[in-house]
Amino acid sequence: MKWLVLMCLSVISIGSLFDLNPNLSGEASNTSTEIALGEKLFFDPILSLDRTISCSSCHKPEFAFADNMSFSLGVNDSLAIRNTPSVMNMLSRPYFFYDGRVASLEEQVIVPIENPVEMNLSYEVAVERVQLNSEYDSLFQLIYNTKPDSFNIAHALSEFQRSLESNGTAPHDLWVGDIDSTAMTASQLRGREIFIADENKCFECHFGPDFTGDEFRNIGLFDAQTLLDKGRYEITKDSSDLGKFKVPGLRNVALTAPYMHNGMFETLEAVIDFYSNPYDFVKDPINMDTLMIEPLNFSLQQKEDLVNFLHSLTDKEIPFRKNRSEKAAEESRR
Ligand code: HEC
Ligand code: HEC
Repeated sequence: MKWLVLMCLSVISIGSLFDLNPNLSGEASNTSTEIALGEKLFFDPILSLDRTISCSSCHKPEFAFADNMSFSLGVNDSLAIRNTPSVMNMLSRPYFFYDGRVASLEEQVIVPIENPVEMNLSYEVAVERVQLNSEYDSLFQLIYNTKPDSFNIAHALSEFQRSLESNGTAPHDLWVGDIDSTAMTASQLRGREIFIADENKCFECHFGPDFTGDEFRNIGLFDAQTLLDKGRYEITKDSSDLGKFKVPGLRNVALTAPYMHNGMFETLEAVIDFYSNPYDFVKDPINMDTLMIEPLNFSLQQKEDLVNFLHSLTDKEIPFRKNRSEKAAEESRR
């Protein structure tokens, strides 16, 4: 009898999990249930020391799973040390973080949980907490056939993040895919030409479906005076890596201001001003990429076109952007 009641409870929980994401309700394949479970964990502050911070406190759906401040706030209002990147389009990434210090999402999820300025909870304790939570306990039993553990918690969170892929609805996708020849404005099309032109170099670093070649490059944001983050060098201790950072993908970039590893540029306009002449911002960059040495000196029109082009990379819909705010509103009405 007791067992039956538990089963029913679990079924109800799974049902409510799916309510969070109606897209998943059609097929209850194992992957989709793992994703729904990962979603629940991603939005749940249970993984932080004082139960105030969830992954979504910094990776906010409304900003394409990035944050709108230079440095996000972790537990006790401590400041993160780098800008929070989007966690959309992670599926094809070979490594994570600006310095590429981990090679899989499963390894990655443990870092923010344990990071003292983010969630500040040992992963062991986090796992225990999830185990002691009866709802999670029955969901993990149901989906993974075992109690929550360090492996399946990381796996569920990773599956959720791997589900956050752009879905080809950005104006640039519609235009490139010959789905809608009017999807991009004249200015965006000019900006695209500027972006891919050999002489402007953007495409040499930002290429491929997600506009990143997944390399580490130095665009001149390290000078050992005021810009102190050594980036990839911290991991390899190889002086040729000084000031190199993972080239970020540019999908949804219009939603993820401020920009760069340190959030130093408030707007895309400022980013383009920087690429136009990096020395206006950093006088003596160290180990800057040879591609960046000669200022491009864009005209005002070119700058405007480039910014407009970057806006054409914004998906029509961002997962959970609407669902989540509706759900929050609903909860506050209760
Ligand atoms: C306090 C804010 C904060 C919280 C909470 C947080 N993150 Fe992050 N996240 C960041 C910052 C900052 C970085 C970049 C750090 C770096 O590059 O060194 C980052 C990077 C990442 C990346 C790498 C993205 C890339 O492009 O390489 C992933 C994936 C990620 N976080 C997932 C998560 C998950 C999953 C959780 C919850 C378990 C989480 N984050 C909680 C701030 C946060
Ligand atoms: C040498 C390689 C390289 C070239 C050339 C290059 N980028 Fe970048 N880009 C990067 C790297 C690396 C970063 C991240 C740097 C950091 O965080 O400190 C970046 C960051 C950006 C960002 C901010 C993304 C974010 O989420 O913070 C934008 C926008 C951008 N680049 C657009 C462009 C445009 C437009 C051009 C051409 C005018 C260009 N890039 C040329 C390597 C390059």
